[in-house]
Amino acid sequence: MGSSPRPGQHDAIAILDYGSQTTQLIARRIREAHVYCELFPWDAPAEQVLALRPRGFILSGGPAGVYEPDAPTLPSYVLESGLPVLGICYGMQLLAHTLGGRVTRAPEREYGPALVELLEEVDWLAPLRDRPQVWMSHGDWVEQVPPGFRVLARSPNSPIAAMEGPQRRIYGVQFHPEVAHTPAGREILAHFAVEICGCRPTWTPAAFIEEAVERIRDQVGGGRVLCGLSGGVDSAVTAALVHRAIGDRLTCLFVNTGLLRRGEPEQVVATFRDRLGMPLVAVDATEEFLSALQGTTDPEQKRRIVGERFMRVFEREAERLGEVDFLAQGTLYPDVIESAAPDRPGARRIKTHHNVGGLPERMRLRLIEPLRYLFKDEVRAVGEALGLPEEIVWRQPFPGPGLAVRVVGEVTWERLERLRAADAIFVEELDRAGLLREATQQAFAVLLPVRSVGVMGDGRTYEEVVALRAVTTEDFMTADWARLDPDLLARVSNRIVNEVEGVNRVLYDVTSKPPATIEWE
Ligand code: XMP
Repeated sequence: MGSSPRPGQHDAIAILDYGSQTTQLIARRIREAHVYCELFPWDAPAEQVLALRPRGFILSGGPAGVYEPDAPTLPSYVLESGLPVLGICYGMQLLAHTLGGRVTRAPEREYGPALVELLEEVDWLAPLRDRPQVWMSHGDWVEQVPPGFRVLARSPNSPIAAMEGPQRRIYGVQFHPEVAHTPAGREILAHFAVEICGCRPTWTPAAFIEEAVERIRDQVGGGRVLCGLSGGVDSAVTAALVHRAIGDRLTCLFVNTGLLRRGEPEQVVATFRDRLGMPLVAVDATEEFLSALQGTTDPEQKRRIVGERFMRVFEREAERLGEVDFLAQGTLYPDVIESAAPDRPGARRIKTHHNVGGLPERMRLRLIEPLRYLFKDEVRAVGEALGLPEEIVWRQPFPGPGLAVRVVGEVTWERLERLRAADAIFVEELDRAGLLREATQQAFAVLLPVRSVGVMGDGRTYEEVVALRAVTTEDFMTADWARLDPDLLARVSNRIVNEVEGVNRVLYDVTSKPPATIEWE
């Protein structure tokens, strides 16, 4: 079974992952500099990493100490390649340790913002001159640099905050240039990739589209492709790319589960069939999903039911469409990375994330995954370059099991409609205030299985409760609750209680992730 080959014609950086929470951000920053890069577990086979033909390496941070007996090590091919290497935090300590310097436990753990002072003038750290704030997160430090290395910067808690071995083109920073709290970081990483490693910045949405279209044509030949549309940006961009490549030999299938937000099913049809002219088959399976969910309140059980039912409906409807050879799926790079590192500590599964991964085998279809090497922000840029409408390109993430996991307790049509009405009011008010993209990355309403007493006019009410959730986040792995304007919340609450029958109380969720998750189920 094929998936999509990696983009081939770009100068590239290989990033070795030592387990830091922010490794993916390194890759995103490099890609933002229009340089292609890939992430590998630090112990990936040499052939696999070298097949990328990298022009340089970045070693990420990580939780271990280099002097611990089972600490991750530096694979020998990295130094043998003679290519430039940048070590970040653990990566820098590993370089120092391997090349004959000394790394020890710091007297104090340094965590949070710090100011660095440059001790030498070097081009790659020049952006720190104006913006010396950096983000530190380490318990160990480099006490002595290896022979032939120079100390370039220090911070109050790190006498060696940056180092270089210019002859061997080896560089290290104790801070994290990839995070937003290091304002000069973006430029430092771009400088490493472009100036030091000599990568040409050719990785752009336009170049990606051109190559992807060509690859899809090659892969599909004269065959036919099926693509499931959910209304989300990933499947939309996948479909648009495939459509550009093979035109009407693509058929899109949209299953209305009855678990979508207000107006979504209509919007999918209006956008894809009417506006973009794609062949689209829309199926309403609401009754089927609702009866399968009847009586179920357990979140994981709901997820399973929706996932299985989706597979069944999709398979049945696809069969009705006649002969197809390929299934196009909007798998993204983070999914690929996660599945390459199943035993990573901390990667314990908190919720079963529903996807349709089992479908291609069951349907004996070959798979095309044109977005397999893209991050979400790149998918959005490609979507924009393909001319997809803004409401699709910038659509907030929506869980596969849909509103089934936002109607806490039993899922009935009446409760779904109640939630849809409340959710639409929340989103509409955010949008009206111009906050939908700016103040929050994900905002929605949740219907709770609780009734509370209220008073309306002269009468006592005893009705359901809606919780509003709005978060700010960079990667959805951690999140903070959005500090929304109290007047806006007041407006939303008033409207919900007045306009949505059966709801007499509105709450605002002020919990971050962790310890809570973004969704309630
Ligand atoms: P949690 O609730 O785990 O959610 O903090 C993190 C992000 O993932 C989305 N989410 C899902 N996405 N299938 C998906 O495709 C799922 O089953 C699922 N559950 C949660 C959630 O909306 C948030 O953006």
